[in-house]
Amino acid sequence: MLCSRSKTVFILFSFLLVATGISIAEKETSVEEWRTGVKERFMAEENGQNSSLILAAKRTKRKDPTENFSLYTGGWNISNTHYWTSVAYTAAPFFVIAGVWFVVFGLSLCLTCLCYCCCARQPYGYSRIAYALSLILLLSFTIAAIVGCVFLYTGQGKFHASTSDTLDYVVRQANFTADSLRNVSDYLNAAKKIDVQSIVLPGDILTSIDNLQGKINSSATTLSVKTMENQDRIQNVLDTMRLALIIIAAVMLFLVFIGFLLSIFGLQCLVYTLVIFGWILVTITFALCGLFLLLHNVVGDTCVAMDQWVANPTAYTALDDILPCVDNATASETLSQTKLVTYQLVVIVDNIINNLANKNFPPQAAPFYYNQSGPLMPLLCNPFKADLSDHQCKPGEVHLNNATEVWKNYTCQFIKPGTCSTPGRLTPKLYTQMAAAVNISYGLYKYGPFLADLRGCNFVRSTFTDIERDHCPGLNRYTKWIYVGLVVVSTAVMLSLVFWVIYARERRHRVYTKDYNAMHSEAPRDKGPQ
Ligand SMILES: *[C@@H]1O[C@H](CO)[C@@H](O)[C@H](O)[C@H]1NC(C)=O
Ligand SMILES: *[C@@H]1O[C@H](CO)[C@@H](O)[C@H](O)[C@H]1NC(C)=O
Ligand SMILES: *[C@@H]1O[C@H](CO)[C@@H](O)[C@H](O)[C@H]1NC(C)=O
Ligand SMILES: *[C@@H]1O[C@H](CO)[C@@H](O)[C@H](O)[C@H]1NC(C)=O
Ligand SMILES: *[C@@H]1O[C@H](CO)[C@@H](O)[C@H](O)[C@H]1NC(C)=O
Ligand SMILES: *[C@@H]1O[C@H](CO)[C@@H](O)[C@H](O)[C@H]1NC(C)=O
Ligand SMILES: *[C@@H]1O[C@H](CO)[C@@H](O)[C@H](O)[C@H]1NC(C)=O
Ligand SMILES: *[C@@H]1O[C@H](CO)[C@@H](O)[C@H](O)[C@H]1NC(C)=O
Ligand SMILES: *[C@@H]1O[C@H](CO)[C@@H](O)[C@H](O)[C@H]1NC(C)=O
Ligand SMILES: *[C@@H]1O[C@H](CO)[C@@H](O)[C@H](O)[C@H]1NC(C)=O
Ligand SMILES: *[C@@H]1O[C@H](CO)[C@@H](O)[C@H](O)[C@H]1NC(C)=O
Repeated sequence: MLCSRSKTVFILFSFLLVATGISIAEKETSVEEWRTGVKERFMAEENGQNSSLILAAKRTKRKDPTENFSLYTGGWNISNTHYWTSVAYTAAPFFVIAGVWFVVFGLSLCLTCLCYCCCARQPYGYSRIAYALSLILLLSFTIAAIVGCVFLYTGQGKFHASTSDTLDYVVRQANFTADSLRNVSDYLNAAKKIDVQSIVLPGDILTSIDNLQGKINSSATTLSVKTMENQDRIQNVLDTMRLALIIIAAVMLFLVFIGFLLSIFGLQCLVYTLVIFGWILVTITFALCGLFLLLHNVVGDTCVAMDQWVANPTAYTALDDILPCVDNATASETLSQTKLVTYQLVVIVDNIINNLANKNFPPQAAPFYYNQSGPLMPLLCNPFKADLSDHQCKPGEVHLNNATEVWKNYTCQFIKPGTCSTPGRLTPKLYTQMAAAVNISYGLYKYGPFLADLRGCNFVRSTFTDIERDHCPGLNRYTKWIYVGLVVVSTAVMLSLVFWVIYARERRHRVYTKDYNAMHSEAPRDKGPQ
């Protein structure tokens, strides 16, 4: 009586757990809904706020157990412990299920032990239907557990690939930024050594280049070092997580398989040993479900927060506190310094062209006369005005990008040293010096847009836009796969445990009844007394 009732209670309890798990899974918004929802929700949140923006405010309104279960309203802010407690609270059902399962199944195990001791010896009927049903259910839960394991394994593989991709992308962006900063520093360094006909950059520019280089170097180094450290740390966490999930999937698969075999062959003693292992493992996997649901929610929040941060360049948000941006002052100073150096180098070169190359000196003007002759060479177009605003090229001027090419045609050849023997306006030496100046000038000019992006962290904005578009849907989907996989595995293994016991018992009764019938009568074979 007690035994059969405990069996029913077992099954009811298990179904209750499954239903809870499924309803939690259903409550989560789907990826598509989340993506399309971002914009509207965001519009609703935004009106009326201009100074400080609460990121992902709608999504993060969750009950906070440390604040008397009132709604948390601080938005996405990973420096805030209440954010974490309120997210953790969404995963609480799984932790509760883990706890309840641990206690209830533990008690049931004790009860079953008691049953085994006191009821087992009574002759006990066996019904064909119960036997067949338990076999079918055992089989289906075993298959469900295997499917869950496969799902979990696939999910963790995809999640790992997706996170590694995202991480690589971020690291590449940071590397690119640090590299570009170093290149700018190198160009500035080279600009100090530029010398066209003994004319060099003004002294004040040279000293400010020295000052700036220190700042640029330290910015680039900080960026690289921080990125490498964080990359290592995150990669370690990801690898550990992956290993843990693979082990869980493998152990669960093994457990289910062995348990199934033992139960089929009726090795009750071993089945009970395995049930105890399974009991603990199922508790662990339910707790893991909670952890991954938490991760899933945090990933979703972060993606929405990034989207809103990108859309609101002026607002101050929680993300601004933790970003590895190059500070605005250094970036602005670098930008104006590179513009100034570009401008000055072009001025030097154009002065040489106007006052030396394109002039026809008499042979007596010794250092300036080198028998320059032939068509006048074009001036170099200065991309900036003296106040460093943009400047349009005049017709006939050559661009920085092809000045070296064009000037090749104006270079004469030396047969006698010191004077041009062929028509031309530049000596080979002067051409080389001017080409070097143009090279530096153009190099710095090309980094202008990059440096402008560095101000106000625009490069981080474009990185976030890309992450939000290319990586977030995958991250969201695969964290969901993992926790759904864990839910399926846990519940299927949980029910399998129950049916190992039930089936093994049914089987024993069947054998017992068979023996009993064989001993006492020959006629109705296999017919249960029930
Ligand atoms: C927006 O900011 C300005 C200046 O900081 C302030 O005067 C104004 O009240 C703010 N508007 C809102 C709706 O907060
Ligand atoms: C929670 O509520 C109790 C009584 O309602 C109050 O005494 C306590 O200060 C509250 N705690 C917080 C953190 O609001
Ligand atoms: C980033 O740069 C470091 C050294 O500067 C290098 O070791 C690393 O491989 C680079 N990473 C990527 C993704 O390019
Ligand atoms: C930095 O300069 C080197 C050599 O000029 C070049 O190969 C590299 O692509 C540059 N890096 C960036 C990020 O511009
Ligand atoms: C900055 O780094 C460059 C090489 O990247 C180096 O040549 C230069 O001396 C450094 N400058 C300072 C001030 O550290
Ligand atoms: C984020 O949380 C920290 C700690 O509670 C708080 O100091 C900070 O002001 C918060 N940031 C924003 C933007 O709300
Ligand atoms: C130089 O470059 C400019 C802009 O890229 C182009 O319009 C012009 O035709 C080029 N001139 C020569 C001679 O290649
Ligand atoms: C240089 O001169 C040659 C022959 O005069 C001409 O064909 C070529 O287009 C010129 N190159 C440039 C860049 O002006
Ligand atoms: C100066 O250049 C012309 C060609 O433009 C050449 O004929 C002449 O011989 C050169 N004079 C000397 C002294 O080399
Ligand atoms: C331009 O300058 C860079 C950096 O100083 C140097 O590596 C490169 O060889 C130069 N190119 C030319 C054509 O002079
Ligand atoms: C950075 O500085 C520049 C000029 O100093 C300014 O125009 C810009 O608004 C600043 N950006 C931010 C995000 O502070």
